[in-house]
Amino acid sequence: MQSKRIIIAIDGYSSCGKSTIARGLAKQLGYIYIDSGAMYRAVALYALRKGWLTEKEIDEDALRRHIGDIHITFNPNAQGIQETFLNGENVEREIRSLQVANGASRVSTLSFVRREMVRQQQEMGKNKGVVMDGRDIGTVVFPDAEMKLFLTTSPEIRARRRFEEMVAKGEQAEYEAVLANVKERDLRDTTRTESPLRKANDAFELDNTHIGIEEQLQWALHMFHKITAQNE
Ligand code: DC
Repeated sequence: MQSKRIIIAIDGYSSCGKSTIARGLAKQLGYIYIDSGAMYRAVALYALRKGWLTEKEIDEDALRRHIGDIHITFNPNAQGIQETFLNGENVEREIRSLQVANGASRVSTLSFVRREMVRQQQEMGKNKGVVMDGRDIGTVVFPDAEMKLFLTTSPEIRARRRFEEMVAKGEQAEYEAVLANVKERDLRDTTRTESPLRKANDAFELDNTHIGIEEQLQWALHMFHKITAQNE
């Protein structure tokens, strides 16, 4: 018999491998993977295109008035990998730019943006069978999620990974500057007033600084089977 479908919430700092574990779990379990960070990125892209988000400021009034016009969905591509759609347009590539990442970090501090994204996220999870990753999934979006993970990795390792990715892409990078950026984002994520990043009391914390992906996935699957066996 197939076990009851549950919600799996995965939170943690930026670049600590949340999406790798979330995707792996979703694939193994036949669940839907939802990248909540992509949703804040899509909002930032929408605002950038409208000219409401510039280097200097955000036109909060305009964004607030139109927040209900932003509809985000996810659809798998030919390889079965989920891609992000903004009002029906595939924006997966565009939302991964540094400009959009920085914009996402800013729009995600606005309470009306969070309220609308949380509403859409809860709607996506209403039939369960989802793995969602982000910063506030176990605390705000799905406080009753049956399985919650909180991932941590040392800032030095996260900076090293990001630095190597940038070098591989042929971008100019300095390790010390990347490390400073990682620490700055951590500080903003954990100290913002609206839904700061924090571990839910009932989340399992995993420091994966010295643990490979396959081992983490096996650990998470083991936990899933234990939880679903208890819930039968
Ligand atoms: O995980 P990411 O880098 O794609 O997230 C983009 C931004 O959105 C990042 O600055 C943190 C923010 N975010 C958030 O505030 N809440 C979430 N549930 C997910 C992401």
